Amino acid sequence: MSTTTITVPGRQPYDVLVGRDILGSLPELIGSKARKVLIVHPATLGARAEALRESLSSDFEVLLAEIPDAETGKRVEVAAFCWQVLGQADFTRTDVVIGFGGGAVTDLAGFVAATWLRGIRLINVPTTLLGMVDASIGGKTGINTNEGKNLVGAFHAPGGVVVDLDTLEGLSQMEILASFGEVVKYGFIAEPEILDIIERGVDTATDPRSDEFRRVVELSIGIKARVVGEDFTELGVREILNYGHTLGHAVEYAERFQWRHGAAVAIGMVYAAELARLTGRLSDEVVDRHRSILTSLQLPVSYPVGRWQTLLSVMKRDKKARGSMLRFIVLDDIARPTVLTGPDESLLFAAYQEIGA
Ligand SMILES: NC(=O)c1ccc[n+]([C@@H]2O[C@H](COP(=O)([O-])OP(=O)(O)OC[C@H]3O[C@@H](n4cnc5c(N)ncnc54)[C@H](O)[C@@H]3O)[C@@H](O)[C@H]2O)c1
Repeated sequence: MSTTTITVPGRQPYDVLVGRDILGSLPELIGSKARKVLIVHPATLGARAEALRESLSSDFEVLLAEIPDAETGKRVEVAAFCWQVLGQADFTRTDVVIGFGGGAVTDLAGFVAATWLRGIRLINVPTTLLGMVDASIGGKTGINTNEGKNLVGAFHAPGGVVVDLDTLEGLSQMEILASFGEVVKYGFIAEPEILDIIERGVDTATDPRSDEFRRVVELSIGIKARVVGEDFTELGVREILNYGHTLGHAVEYAERFQWRHGAAVAIGMVYAAELARLTGRLSDEVVDRHRSILTSLQLPVSYPVGRWQTLLSVMKRDKKARGSMLRFIVLDDIARPTVLTGPDESLLFAAYQEIGA
């Protein structure tokens, strides 16, 4: 099957290539100006990173930087290790960093590319579903500190993204289902076709080898591309991507970041849907659709009633970091997101009782 090209618009447009067995497109994306390439990858992808190095080595001098897995890779010490590799190999402004892995790897590799010589070319090759539909696109890069996640970073758009669905091989089905939390989010905020495909057959929709899976990935990327193309630095429309995230982030915190992000966002979306229903925006039917689709993906749709005060205090603390009032993305209907600012605490609690277990 052919390669699909989705262009992310904006001041520096770039292409996201989607297909199968398309890593061969990398030399052209890296460009003829580059002489050196650093592939940043986790140990889990060591053999595949080595194969990628081999395949690029006739055109470029290619180095590998193996970094610690998942969130433990998003640390300043790991960035410093990569800077050391780049420095010792004399990487210049025209050389390239490739982020080859999940969202944690592309966040770290992006931060390294953003900061080396004040910014060099970055190519993302995401290997998780969350990486493909979310983290690798949009130019947000970052690392964690002891005080919290993603507190240090930079906006640095990639020069290109290669979404090769074959790289998902080896990822557990649980991991894929969890990432569907974000895919469903795109469905509700912008693209009902995603919801229809999941409802027609959840097993097919979540099978990385199926055409339906490819279609939901392409639709999701299309939405992310359009939104971040309009609002690169998150001052406006990009906020709609936070559907389900206000409560979702609080759940992640309450669960000490042991939950998969998509599971927390699933609860957050049902909560936001209940808020919209209680404020007269959303029908019972659309709220029920949230529950049935997320349940079919084995994602949670409720949370213990007794945890409300913890969640509320985390949301309030989070809010202080971003502005003066609590903000929720809610829906007027499917594909009609809007912002609910500073809702009454009694309303917040009433909505929570609807999702309480
Ligand atoms: N920059 C953004 O806009 C953005 C958006 C969303 C999330 N993120 C970030 O993304 C991160 C989460 O990303 P994630 O869900 O991809 O998690 P992850 O990067 O931690 O990867 C999850 C696990 O899958 C493994 N893995 C990766 N590819 C694999 C493959 N093909 N086969 C087998 N195992 C594989 C990894 O080694 C890791 O253990 C978080 O740090 C989050 O902050 C960033």
